Amino acid sequence: MQSQESWVDLRAFAAVDDAADPAPLIRALDVGKASPAMRGVGDEILRRLRLPEARAVLDLGCGLGTDALAMAARLPRNGRVVGVDASRTMVAEATARAAGSDTRTAFTVGSALAVPFPDASFDRCRAQALLQHIPNAPDVIGEIYRILRPGGRAVAFEFDLGTTVIDHPDRPTTRTILDYVTDSALQGWIGRQLPRLYREAGFTDVTATPIPVPNDYDLFMFTMRRPLAQIVHDEVLGAREVVRWVRQLEELHEAGHYVGGSVGFLVSAEKN
Ligand SMILES: C[S@@+](CC[C@H](N)C(=O)[O-])C[C@H]1O[C@@H](n2cnc3c(N)ncnc32)[C@H](O)[C@@H]1O
Repeated sequence: MQSQESWVDLRAFAAVDDAADPAPLIRALDVGKASPAMRGVGDEILRRLRLPEARAVLDLGCGLGTDALAMAARLPRNGRVVGVDASRTMVAEATARAAGSDTRTAFTVGSALAVPFPDASFDRCRAQALLQHIPNAPDVIGEIYRILRPGGRAVAFEFDLGTTVIDHPDRPTTRTILDYVTDSALQGWIGRQLPRLYREAGFTDVTATPIPVPNDYDLFMFTMRRPLAQIVHDEVLGAREVVRWVRQLEELHEAGHYVGGSVGFLVSAEKN
């Protein structure tokens, strides 16, 4: 097994401030955002947000604030972006990273379940990789609906863990492991549920686009160490089986054959 710094427990995003060391979580976000596929997703989100027509934008679950900065750069001169995140650590990091780059961004600590702004205060809301960390997704989408003005627009992106594929010679064990990861996650199917949840919250013109996002071996293993340990702990698989499975995947990777990825769902929706 690798050292603590080389893996991350994705479930810790539900309560970043409780993490003994938030550095691996911050690194996971930076690494994830840097991939060409996720850059493409980011560009498509910006396009769908139609920012040149907006004034007030909310980035809910803003993390490191990089998306807020990208959005601010596309707003008219009198536009502003507010990033809200439940984590003081994330808000401090976002504030530090934004210092000097764009005065039209501000970051504040707050819950997506009780967004600290009045009804109808924003023209746009972005919510990316947020719902997978919160059990009561409809309540969050209800908050997004509440804070948007009539004519406002929400754009969301969530991975669907149930779509993860990897090439591996041991298909039964691979199925067991991937199903375990999906079913033990807070919101393993949130990607495919997203358009229905937005419609049920009252949004109209809901469009959903599934986007395949390849991952590389390092990124996959970065997120898999904790679930693999848990699978052994829960006696779903034996330690030997898991070690053999990891070695086989490592061999494929070393031979240049690693293939893996998941589908994320990009949803845009209007409030009438
Ligand atoms: C995986 S990160 C995604 C951050 C950013 N949206 C991005 O795409 O890089 C999830 C973020 O949601 C925040 N978060 C988790 N639960 C939250 C809640 N109930 N309310 C607000 N933010 C929350 C976490 O602190 C974390 O910064």
